[in-house]
Amino acid sequence: MPSTLRSQFLLDPELAFLNHGSFGACPLPVLQALHRWQFAMERNPVAFLGRRSAQLLREARTALATFVGAQPSDLVFVPNATTGVNIVAASLPLTPGDEVLATDHEYGACEATWERACAGAGATLRRVTIPLPFERERFADTMLSAIGPRTRLIFASHVSSTTALIFPVEQLCSQARARGVLTLIDGAHAPGQLPLDLDALGADFYTGNAHKWLCAPKGAGFLHARAQHHASLHATVTSWGYVAGDGGHTGFDAYTGSTVLERRLQWQGTRDIAAWLSVPAAIDFQREHDWPAVRARCHAMAVALMHRVAAHTGLAPIGTDQDFAQMVPLAVPHTDAEALRTRLLERHAIEVPVTRHGGRSFVRVSVQGYNDDDDLARLEAALRTI
Ligand SMILES: Cc1ncc(COP(=O)(O)O)c(C=O)c1O
Repeated sequence: MPSTLRSQFLLDPELAFLNHGSFGACPLPVLQALHRWQFAMERNPVAFLGRRSAQLLREARTALATFVGAQPSDLVFVPNATTGVNIVAASLPLTPGDEVLATDHEYGACEATWERACAGAGATLRRVTIPLPFERERFADTMLSAIGPRTRLIFASHVSSTTALIFPVEQLCSQARARGVLTLIDGAHAPGQLPLDLDALGADFYTGNAHKWLCAPKGAGFLHARAQHHASLHATVTSWGYVAGDGGHTGFDAYTGSTVLERRLQWQGTRDIAAWLSVPAAIDFQREHDWPAVRARCHAMAVALMHRVAAHTGLAPIGTDQDFAQMVPLAVPHTDAEALRTRLLERHAIEVPVTRHGGRSFVRVSVQGYNDDDDLARLEAALRTI
């Protein structure tokens, strides 16, 4: 059955677009909101950015906070999750001999961020193997048992990139805290795909994207930090928020904001803030289209595909149905990942990534509200020819 949501997206009708996970896709009403904000800005850029931006961003953050179960004051917009990870990595006072633990399923750019931060401080990034097939109930213990005397922080994805697994991070965060170890959760894929309650989740730091599964315009990420950590966070770009010291007033509060998070992290020189201001429109779009039902339909389609392909290849899924949301990794025989991706695109008009983990290859399928059974059938038929 064709998805009624398809017409709301600008996606190329020739394509079976099964890669929402990489950069998201933004529906028309949200793009229209983005353009309305940009037009409003250009009527008087000085009034918009110089006199109204902090208040407008506060309103957008309040809507996002309700959506992710957080206090607005604990959130700050950043362009993307990569930036959120960079801010925490640059702010953590690592000393020689310290250690940061990460799962071995982390996203390459964020892993590289920690590699650099650790190398610069004489600290070590240690990857902890989370074996496949994934055993959900062992995840937290596996990470916690790797804690050593110099472990300062645990870095873990909420939904992993190459393997699409939902890591049960709630238990990890509370138990790490009990052991005096900080947690940073990379929720790049979580908002819009998993229901969130960040206050209850209890990470010290949580970064996420609105531009992936929440379908906001690109450039809409956020960083969440518990209040006790606000003063320890530093921007990767120094700007007006640093003038006159923490909490001081420059006379520019209408655009730098007034809290330490706003002042240091939100204003980083002139930029287009329309993507951030459009996050409430994305939340409204999903609410108006009964997104819990959309998510459930997509999840059911994704896991059914995973089982059909596994039956065909004889390669078992790497997790149970509850370990996945709207993305699933289809195990395929060991392959040249790039050659397979290109072949699926060029011969079958399927946009889908082929990922690698632990010497294995996966076709990582994203199922979003605009996808229908025909998209998945096209992929299934193409895989049978390979
Ligand atoms: C787990 C994970 N973290 C971080 C990112 C980076 O997201 P962004 O490019 O929006 O910073 C991705 C992107 O796919 C990801 O999969």
